[in-house]
Amino acid sequence: MKPKILIARAIFPEVVAKLAQHFEVTSNQADELWTSAQLIERLKGKQGVFTTGGERIDAALLAACPELKICANMAVGYNNFDIAAMTAARVLGTNAPDVLTETTADFGFALLMATARRMAEAEHFLRAGQWTRWRYDMFAGADIHGSTLGILGMGRIGQGIAKRGAHGFGMQVIYHNRSRLDAATELECKAIYVSKQELLKTADHLVLVLPYSASSHHAIGAAELAQMKPTATLVNIARGGIVDDAALALALRNKTIAAAGLDVFEGEPAVHPDLLTVPNVVLTPHIASATMPTRLAMANLAADNLIGFLTQGKPVTPLNPA
Ligand code: DGY
Repeated sequence: MKPKILIARAIFPEVVAKLAQHFEVTSNQADELWTSAQLIERLKGKQGVFTTGGERIDAALLAACPELKICANMAVGYNNFDIAAMTAARVLGTNAPDVLTETTADFGFALLMATARRMAEAEHFLRAGQWTRWRYDMFAGADIHGSTLGILGMGRIGQGIAKRGAHGFGMQVIYHNRSRLDAATELECKAIYVSKQELLKTADHLVLVLPYSASSHHAIGAAELAQMKPTATLVNIARGGIVDDAALALALRNKTIAAAGLDVFEGEPAVHPDLLTVPNVVLTPHIASATMPTRLAMANLAADNLIGFLTQGKPVTPLNPA
């Protein structure tokens, strides 16, 4: 008998078909948004679940679904998983690293440029028919080339952004991370390790790429924003809870910093209402990894984790012992 799996959201039909060769598949191709109770109801009796990053896997769900063996996330971030509870319940978690690194770093850089050069504000102005004449300081923003790029969280994506900045735009790169990179990687990224305080004080552009956890919750709040340059740009492509969105909206309004670019939000898809009313912020709906080849590679990696683990006990990218 084939193991049973649930695919919690709509995904590429070819990946559903691939999974169906190995499993009895229940798939949410209608892309309904299930409550936790509905997810639990549909997960009962299933050995595996394909998640996309928004489904909370916690002790209550695990207790209600004792046959569950693996949760495969189609995302590199896995803050939707309570890994301690999963390990205690002997349920494996897997994520989808590496395949999205370059695409996400591209987007981080695009958002940095759009933010520093005020592209969204300028486009709204043009579409609103307000462009009637030239002015010397019209939408004058901040330079990227030759400036200081700060990176908080220097994993694979942070390193990708560092390389783009250092090699493509001649930026000085400084970073802060839980642990310092080895000398060869620092050289490759042309990146200098500094304290978080130094990073905040010195960066012209600060990009957040650290994982979300209880210890990174509101890592950027009012106190941190106050340490940044009034001309600085802040970009968040990591997770919403890392930034205190209310404090950021206030800092943008008061010009404590010049501008922000946000792809992720605390409580998304809801966006803090104050962020919607400040002009100097570029807002995108969590699309940093969104190119078709990358999303397909992420889906295939999540599928390969389910297949590898449930058919041979060999996951590709395991997160915990289970
Ligand atoms: C990830 O993979 O964690 C991204 O945020 C999802 O697009």
